Amino acid sequence: MRFKILSTLLVAIFASNLFAQTATIPADAKARTAPFVFSTESKEKGDKIYQANCKSCHGDIGKANYAKLVPIPKDPASPEYQKNSDGDMFYILSNGKGVLMPTFVNTLTEEQRWDVISYIRSFNKDYTQPPVKVAGEAAKTETAKMVLGYDLNNKKLWAMVTDSISGTKKPLSDVTIKLFVRRTFGNLPITQAVTSNLGVAYFDLPNDIPGDSIGNILLIARTIGSSNELTCSLTEKLGVVTKPKLLLDQRAWWSINKMAPIWLILLYLSGITGIGATVIYILLQLRKIKKINQITTET
Ligand code: HEC
Repeated sequence: MRFKILSTLLVAIFASNLFAQTATIPADAKARTAPFVFSTESKEKGDKIYQANCKSCHGDIGKANYAKLVPIPKDPASPEYQKNSDGDMFYILSNGKGVLMPTFVNTLTEEQRWDVISYIRSFNKDYTQPPVKVAGEAAKTETAKMVLGYDLNNKKLWAMVTDSISGTKKPLSDVTIKLFVRRTFGNLPITQAVTSNLGVAYFDLPNDIPGDSIGNILLIARTIGSSNELTCSLTEKLGVVTKPKLLLDQRAWWSINKMAPIWLILLYLSGITGIGATVIYILLQLRKIKKINQITTET
């Protein structure tokens, strides 16, 4: 009964839904592949995720007992469903489809979304997983690592991003890395670079970055555009030697006597001379009075 009402309602919005269905999946999203090789483990994880999040609409896989919605959710084991590429499925899981297929971008992590796909694919005997393309996207995985170094021979600062997939280290290409220099108040962005096929990015540093008293600067590299940001830092003598300005190096009223401002010294000296002169003047006047006194008493 509930489904009947629901279906009638949905027929009404079928027209608008048609548009959503014809909305095409971008080519790069279509071609996207899982960042890991599907395994029994990923399949089992996907199974649990499927039972909790998908079964209510898509039913038990292979039994065609999906909820009677319009458009039909399809049995994931059906050929029409399986003809989607892995990238298509990932895109639909992340963005939803039509009005009924929800987006799982906030409920399932990327890895979990790939796990479900791994589970769904296990019902397709003809499926072979496309080669795992380890692109920049994979920098989002938790096993990705970044190192930052300085090549003394070529005088170049480099960063390398790798991912250890099933024990072997693989370079991650197309990772955008932003470079910052530590300043007293926060990090100053300097430049950015993208990793090559070898997972390495080289940075062009301006040669006028102020360093400390021996030219050291603290460089910070950070991957951008991924949910799992990688950061790495390195201190190198790549900056301009900067003598720190000490507070006592300049003439200032708070400084030691020797470094007091000229005007203060003059003011002070004139004060002292003023007082001294007044004292001397008074003493001279007193002597004068005494002399006059002596003269008057003598006569
Ligand atoms: C609220 C019901 C509902 C839930 C929950 C649901 N789906 Fe769907 N799903 C649908 C409907 C309805 C369609 C058909 C949408 C269309 O064709 O416009 C669909 C379509 C799809 C498609 C595209 C199939 C095709 O070729 O048209 C995929 C892939 C998919 N769902 C995967 C999943 C996965 C995986 C889950 C669980 C993580 C899930 N769905 C949860 C309702 C649901």
